[in-house]
Amino acid sequence: MEPNDFRAEDGNWWRQAVVYQVYPRSFKDSNADGLGDVRGITSKVEYLATLGVDAIWLSPFYPSALADGGYDVADYRDVDPKLGTLADFDSMISECHQRGIRVFVDIVPNHSSDLHSWFQEALVSEPGSAARDRYIFRDGKGENGDLPPNDWPSHFGPSAWTRTTTSSGVPGQWYLHLFAPEQPDFNWDNTEVIEDFKHTIRFWSDRGVDGFRIDVAHALTKDMSEPYPKIRDFDVKRIPVDGSHHLFDRDQTLEIYRGWREIFNTYNPPRVAVAEASVPTRRRPRYSSPDTLGQAFNFDLMVMPWSAAKFKKSIDLNLDLAAKSGSSSTWVLSNHDVVRHASRYGLPSRTNYDTWLMSDGTSPAPDGELGLARARAATMLILALPGSTYLYQGEELGLPEVANLPAEALQDPMWMQYGMTRKGRDGCRVPLPWNQQGSSFGFGDNGAHLPQPDWFSDYSVEIQDGVMGSTLELYRSAIALRKKLQAAEDLTWVKSPRNTVHFSRPGGWHSFTNFGAKPVTLPAGTIILASAPVVDGKLPGNSTAWVTTA
Ligand code: BGC
Repeated sequence: MEPNDFRAEDGNWWRQAVVYQVYPRSFKDSNADGLGDVRGITSKVEYLATLGVDAIWLSPFYPSALADGGYDVADYRDVDPKLGTLADFDSMISECHQRGIRVFVDIVPNHSSDLHSWFQEALVSEPGSAARDRYIFRDGKGENGDLPPNDWPSHFGPSAWTRTTTSSGVPGQWYLHLFAPEQPDFNWDNTEVIEDFKHTIRFWSDRGVDGFRIDVAHALTKDMSEPYPKIRDFDVKRIPVDGSHHLFDRDQTLEIYRGWREIFNTYNPPRVAVAEASVPTRRRPRYSSPDTLGQAFNFDLMVMPWSAAKFKKSIDLNLDLAAKSGSSSTWVLSNHDVVRHASRYGLPSRTNYDTWLMSDGTSPAPDGELGLARARAATMLILALPGSTYLYQGEELGLPEVANLPAEALQDPMWMQYGMTRKGRDGCRVPLPWNQQGSSFGFGDNGAHLPQPDWFSDYSVEIQDGVMGSTLELYRSAIALRKKLQAAEDLTWVKSPRNTVHFSRPGGWHSFTNFGAKPVTLPAGTIILASAPVVDGKLPGNSTAWVTTA
């Protein structure tokens, strides 16, 4: 670390940070190949600084065949040549640090790509060899081992097992993959695997990375002993709270993170981490405690219907959980795995998004205006809460989901694995519109890897930049105000009319959200920001206002 580095100033910077998720392939293309890249990110650091975010989190940019958008990593300690070089990465991080922006990278420890050198070595090695022990290989069942070891499903399709073929074309053992067949699961009982990930964490920390987002943090260690239990699906509601599930949330997984924590703490400031852990809510603090990863994603609001009472209850629960582990809560409305919240909020709350996407977003038809109004209100609400806010690229433009991508454009492995019955997550990964016109609306000079609809022009940065009331300017103002106003991580609920949520933060900062349809009188004070115009002291429905009484 450089002397006088701004990062050394505050070891608690992450507790109330605004972290902006960059999905590198879809952010900005600098070399006209239709794929976003590292230099593209560097070229937009100024934009990120103007937005006011404290940090960016980069989804995987490592060498990958992109079987799962980069979450199939072929080399954990390099940059995908399609996206740049390590030197480009160094320039990007240095540019970010110069502008006061920290950088998180994504660590994908549950599985690698099938193109990872270890898996390639395993494939040509004998059953029972040291090379195979780094992954989870098993003999098949049935007379000739033709049947998979068990009937577990994968997240992306009907079976978690794929059979190998020896070099002479003879069918061999099966390997476990909880995601796509191109994503073989590591064996976390293997010490080489454990050591290699420590190496990876040091590698990126030494390069100046400030934090890590840990993918599928609840999976890693597994009980693969027989008899295998019946596992129908991966619904979090079916994960027992005693750590006894064979695949998820096992106590040994936390041991791994304790080992990582020791490494994080050797840096100044200590490196931070946030867990993507799909575990029963009350088990979440185990991942966010100071001796493990330190923070965990709270996706509860992402699946919450638009209801004042439900939001309030969820906020209370999560503040409580975070306090239990000594961490701060996280708040998330969108990411690269879900339908964008500007679309979700314009759909009935019981909508099945898989079915909706299969109808090309027509059935039911979303109410775009309502969706955007609620999205803006929800964002202001979470930005006023104590804790960290994670934003997903494009939400600051109010971008809706692209629900009608043509079948031939789809890249998500879910599409093929589910026999073309589920479109998957490409609709929130369409490259960003920077300009109103031009090739791929300024994303790059030669098209975009996922087709952008014409209406993207209306959401472009160019059209919103400097325009009062635009969603981009609302985000900029809200983030800047939050920075000024936020102090201690306290929240006080204020009694308010039905269908509203009102709380205050130290220093007289009030946030008031009207979840109903009719205008409601705002509490006394000075209105400093509102997601919709306030008329005669009344806040319209589906809106949030911030008021100060200081
Ligand atoms: C990531 C997904 C990815 C999966 C497998 C997740 O939770 O967010 O995008 O497909 O892990 O790596």
